[in-house]
Amino acid sequence: MSSVSPIELRSDNCAGVAPQILAAIEAANTGSALAYGADSVTAQLTELVREVFQHTEAKVFPVLSGTAANSLALSAMCPPWGSILCHESAHIFVNEAGATSMFGGGAVMRGLLGENYKLHPEQVQQAFDTTLWDDAHCSQPSVLSVTCPTDFGTIYTPAEVSALGALAASRGLRLHLDGARMANALVALGCTAAELTTHAGVHVFSLGATKNGALSTDAIVSFDAEANDQLMYRLKRAGQVASKMRFQSVQLLAYLADGLWLRLAQRANEAMSALSAGLRTLDVELLAEPQANMLFARVGQPAIERLVAEGLLFYEMGGGVLRFVTSFQTTDDDVQEALRRVERALSPR
Ligand SMILES: Cc1ncc(COP(=O)(O)O)c(C=O)c1O
Repeated sequence: MSSVSPIELRSDNCAGVAPQILAAIEAANTGSALAYGADSVTAQLTELVREVFQHTEAKVFPVLSGTAANSLALSAMCPPWGSILCHESAHIFVNEAGATSMFGGGAVMRGLLGENYKLHPEQVQQAFDTTLWDDAHCSQPSVLSVTCPTDFGTIYTPAEVSALGALAASRGLRLHLDGARMANALVALGCTAAELTTHAGVHVFSLGATKNGALSTDAIVSFDAEANDQLMYRLKRAGQVASKMRFQSVQLLAYLADGLWLRLAQRANEAMSALSAGLRTLDVELLAEPQANMLFARVGQPAIERLVAEGLLFYEMGGGVLRFVTSFQTTDDDVQEALRRVERALSPR
């Protein structure tokens, strides 16, 4: 174990809770309230979500994790004989232990290729072209799911999401968005939350909050009446309806109110910009252009071992590749010190 002070670049999940959100939980801890979401804080949250995402019928379902949000939303959007098309690197496809297939009663996931870890209309069209439509032997494509930012830190523009949504709609598929780090994408794009979701044809999305400063909540936001009817039962059966839901709702209220979520993400993104700029001056190979708060770099195994000894905390991805993730807690000093350690690890004396 290294004796030098650690620098946290493993995951935004490793960060703490934003003080404003902790204060909001504390402030909500007075008196009693109806359970299971029938409380006034959850009602206020619904109003705020409708305002932020500019949709008068939006429903919000707080859940414990991004995996719960994704898998339960997708299971409500896809029949058991259906398939969900997503990028082959998508979290729902490779990192959720088959949760969507389990809650979806056997729904099939199809991972598609696509440059920059994103889906592109050509590959989606190809998947459509190789489907036996209305054939009982073949899972019927029912949902298209995009992740923004992607698991490799690249982002879709609203126009790209819209184009995929239109293509999906042309074959009767609905559009889902995994927004585990949506705030980081919005800050990077400089667009409104509605432009990336409501106006881009998204029907249901996962709204991440824990990675960006909440204590214990993400949410499903749905504009889809058919999915809503199912979600209320599916969430209950999956144990995702918290009895004291007001303490989840108040986190999301504080998160979305006055743009706190964007300010937190801005810090994380700025730290990543400085980090990636510094790595470029050190000639480090990046797997993709980091557009939000995550990067993957190929530095080779010996350098990885030296970085571990230097007390840098990061995930090893195999093949000499590492992952750095910044959070709202990452300081400029953290970035500068991380870069000094990378420089030493790349050219040891
Ligand atoms: C893109 C993406 N989606 C979903 C999730 C799932 O979130 P959780 O770990 O809270 O289940 C993650 C977690 O890292 C993620 O990176």
